[in-house]
Amino acid sequence: MELSFSLKTILTISLFLFFLTPQSSLAIKVPFHPQDLLPLLPRQVSWPILNYLKGAVDLLPTFVGAASAFKDTGDWKGACFYENRAWMEFHNKTGSEFGGGTLHLKVSKAHSWTCMDIYVFATPYRVTWDYYFLSREHTLEFKEWDSKAEYEYVKRQGVSIFLMQAGMLGTLSALWDVFPLFTNTGWGENSNIGFLKKHMGATFEQRPQPWVTNISVDDIHSGDFLAISKIRGRWGGFETLEKWVSGAYAGHSAVCLKDSEGKLWVGESGHENEQGEDIIAVLPWDEWWEFELNKDDSNPHIALLPLHPDVRAKFNETAAWEYALSMNGKPYGYHNMIFSWIDTLDGNYPPPLDSHVLEVLSVGKSDKALPSWQTMTISTRGTGLIASSVVLQVASVMTVWNHMQPEYAANMWNEALNKRLGTQGLDLPDVLVEVEKRGSSFGELLTIPEQDDWLYADGKSTSCIAFVLEMYKEAGLFDPISGSVQVTEFTIKDAYTLRFFENNSSRLPKWCNDGDDVKLPFCQIKGKYRMELPEYNTMDPYPHMNERCPSLPPKYYRTQNC
Ligand SMILES: *[C@@H]1O[C@H](CO)[C@@H](O)[C@H](O)[C@H]1NC(C)=O
Ligand SMILES: *[C@@H]1O[C@H](CO)[C@@H](O)[C@H](O)[C@H]1NC(C)=O
Ligand SMILES: *[C@@H]1O[C@H](CO)[C@@H](O)[C@H](O)[C@H]1NC(C)=O
Ligand SMILES: *[C@@H]1O[C@H](CO)[C@@H](O)[C@H](O)[C@H]1NC(C)=O
Ligand SMILES: *[C@@H]1O[C@H](CO)[C@@H](O)[C@H](O)[C@H]1NC(C)=O
Repeated sequence: MELSFSLKTILTISLFLFFLTPQSSLAIKVPFHPQDLLPLLPRQVSWPILNYLKGAVDLLPTFVGAASAFKDTGDWKGACFYENRAWMEFHNKTGSEFGGGTLHLKVSKAHSWTCMDIYVFATPYRVTWDYYFLSREHTLEFKEWDSKAEYEYVKRQGVSIFLMQAGMLGTLSALWDVFPLFTNTGWGENSNIGFLKKHMGATFEQRPQPWVTNISVDDIHSGDFLAISKIRGRWGGFETLEKWVSGAYAGHSAVCLKDSEGKLWVGESGHENEQGEDIIAVLPWDEWWEFELNKDDSNPHIALLPLHPDVRAKFNETAAWEYALSMNGKPYGYHNMIFSWIDTLDGNYPPPLDSHVLEVLSVGKSDKALPSWQTMTISTRGTGLIASSVVLQVASVMTVWNHMQPEYAANMWNEALNKRLGTQGLDLPDVLVEVEKRGSSFGELLTIPEQDDWLYADGKSTSCIAFVLEMYKEAGLFDPISGSVQVTEFTIKDAYTLRFFENNSSRLPKWCNDGDDVKLPFCQIKGKYRMELPEYNTMDPYPHMNERCPSLPPKYYRTQNC
């Protein structure tokens, strides 16, 4: 379970973020304080106003403190209330294994009687928010901790509290769409579905029962691809955003492997182990399938994409196993990048940075992935508004998340930039200075493709999809051009559009989609909604594939041979 943010995904997000930064030509002064407006405006009105706010950075949440079992937050100053303090009280009202807790929040000294403060409360397992009008003590109830891990976390680290800076109007409209994506409820699931329908044009047609296929493992072979789409809970929320930025209709992937005795295994990067860490794992099929059927609370939809017989004949099982076992147990590396990148936006960078970045973007020789600053400015006035607002929400969520996962703060993003420069240990401002010294641009730096053999501080960076495709590469599927294919540049969509898969429906296993009247070209084996993988199985690999592809919503137009 994981986020398989590829570098390209991150670039897409960060580009949108750049274009939301303060020096925007749209930063017209507003004649009122949005802080003091009540959230009564309809969205059609509030979104344009959101756009006039000073910039995305101002809208990102600020961490004000954490309330744990051992200590309260101390005082902090809000936007409306000038004196605030919070503390945590553990209880066991439901008599559950780990109990629950009540967060007490005392707010006082409002600067005006119409104002209010909005807060986001987060543990690594949940995000919720509330707003306060009245000077008094408020409470926030956590009925039950999600798991031992959450219980331990809150005891030690506490519930983190974030103040939403720019006032409630922008914040509310910014939060409205995204936070429900992360809630593990029917409402959260519907929010994910609604978001994907609206922003990607996904259909989510319900398919007839059975929603779980009675498969026969004899019909599954080494190299068969598993495309997974989660639509609920925190992973559902992240996958939704990832799908949206990358154009993929699946958010996770894994691969099948058979051993010499014919036993079926699944290789997966981003498997959550018992300690709650995401690792690379090679698991017996039964264990993996049992987890997906009964324990995965993200309502995973799963499709098996069998390899084409000719491709399968090429698949070197020995080499695939060698690769899989060499990676087994290693940490999943990639999501660090997005978190640490977002980290750079939450205010701890020198002011010239933003204009700097805009400037280099506008002069950067961006032949493809980087739309020029002009284009972006124009697009803000039209459809870009919606996109920018959504990306802003992504940034908010990421900021919160980044704070929640400090063990991941190894700053992979800076590491990746340093790799591109051939330097070590420079942080983002230093990188910018260095780039300029060399007469290059930041935009150019970003376009340097990731190399599969780059070794990061915590090992090779393998997202779920990089793991699968690296195995394909080792197994010979990209021969004879494998030397000029960098699979870390591939998104999940890039993977399932490869012309590697079975194209003759009469050769698909008998149980494949047997309950469904619509015949898919692949085998959906789990899920209430019919999965769609547009452009499935259509693209032959070519040298330097996907190293220079734009992927901008909502059309994700892909230039030829990019
Ligand atoms: C809560 O109460 C239940 C039932 O009395 C008990 O089994 C459980 O250990 C308690 N949990 C905590 C964290 O005290
Ligand atoms: C699944 O298929 C096997 C044979 O392929 C059969 O023995 C078994 O009863 C089936 N299970 C269900 C739940 O239909
Ligand atoms: C398959 O891979 C193994 C290990 O890398 C190698 O020794 C073997 O020669 C390969 N087989 C073929 C047919 O290429
Ligand atoms: C599809 O596979 C079936 C069964 O193997 C075979 O008879 C048929 O000729 C194949 N069709 C094509 C177009 O290759
Ligand atoms: C499947 O692909 C093969 C080559 O990869 C091609 O020869 C064949 O015509 C295709 N079959 C169908 C049904 O498209």
